[in-house]
Amino acid sequence: MPRIALIPGDGIGREVVREARMVLERVAEIGGISVELTELDYGADRYLRDGVTITDEEFRALADDYDATLLGALGDPRVPGNEHAKDILLGMRFRLDLFVNFRPCVLLDPELTPLRRIPDDVRIEIFRENTEGEYTGIGGSFKTGTPDEIALEENVATRKGVERIIRAAFEFARTRGRRRVTLVDKSNVQRHVGGLWRRVFDEVGAEYEGIQRDAMYVDAMAMDLVRRPERYEVVVASNLFGDIVSDLAAEVTGGLGMAPSANVHPGRHALFEPVHGSAPDIAGTGRANPVGAIRCVALLLDHFGHAAAAGRVEASVVASLRERATTPDLGGALTTEEVGAWIADHLAGTWASPASAG
Ligand code: NAI
Ligand code: MG
Repeated sequence: MPRIALIPGDGIGREVVREARMVLERVAEIGGISVELTELDYGADRYLRDGVTITDEEFRALADDYDATLLGALGDPRVPGNEHAKDILLGMRFRLDLFVNFRPCVLLDPELTPLRRIPDDVRIEIFRENTEGEYTGIGGSFKTGTPDEIALEENVATRKGVERIIRAAFEFARTRGRRRVTLVDKSNVQRHVGGLWRRVFDEVGAEYEGIQRDAMYVDAMAMDLVRRPERYEVVVASNLFGDIVSDLAAEVTGGLGMAPSANVHPGRHALFEPVHGSAPDIAGTGRANPVGAIRCVALLLDHFGHAAAAGRVEASVVASLRERATTPDLGGALTTEEVGAWIADHLAGTWASPASAG
């Protein structure tokens, strides 16, 4: 039985995780799926109260006592340095070695794209390397604050790190029947790191017969994602390029409120979180779109082998969009709670009829 830690966190994180939890509990109940949920209070309130972000003991417990974490968002205006978010979020990524950042960008309803004319079946599944690149903090500055200042930010790429994310992308393509994997880099300028990515991409990709591979420079990719997003299937990229390209792809397919993500070390631990932050500007108003968090529940179910249940959650989300049962960011008039309830009720109502979803 998967043991799942819930970290609602701050701001709208709490509001959307409440709905995600409710949907997960409903699916578990109807589908006969057993999960054990434990809520943890890591976040700004605790940090301001006790001065604690997350302890070594708590990291160890996350690794040893839980199979997955569902997190809302971390960030609070009362903590301007965002220390707790850094400790908890980056801490989990690095200390639990969650090297796959999986970001599916799927256009669930043609009305949701800001682009004028694109086919309505855009599905871009991004594998972002999550532990290396420019995110290791290696670097420094010298003669800081003087006209002679020098600053360095190292781009770290290891053979092991590059290979395991590329392999994760090809494995996904193979097991899900995707036909193409695209590498995003800037190997014309970053010759050393880019060269490693290209070599490993070709080597690993050659093991996967029948899956096409192509490589795009990140600047050309940014253009192309707007011009013809339907061309892409599975995309693999370094930490920085994956960060940028996934925000763009998320916007093309419906925006921040919709996008889920998973941070995974296969076989070890997985952290699911909506892509959006804690949105202090709308926290407490009932305007937070819970769909990104609810789609995290679908990713979580899929991760634990419940693909059919995951498909049902997605199908109910699609139905809510079609019926305009949405929050104001998507043009609807429902509250966070009403959208959660709509989706949960739709799920329950369609569960009996096998034709409605897969
Ligand atoms: P944000 O994603 O929280 O908000 C950006 C804009 O989108 C805001 O206008 C917000 O109202 C809107 N928005 C975001 N999610 C929405 C939703 N589910 N439904 C409707 N509207 C939504 O990003 P922002 O404002 O840059 O950051 C706010 C705080 O969140 C900061 O403290 C930041 O550090 C933190 N943050 C945390 C993340 C995480 O926990 N993974 C990711 C991004 C930001
Ligand atoms: Mg980002």
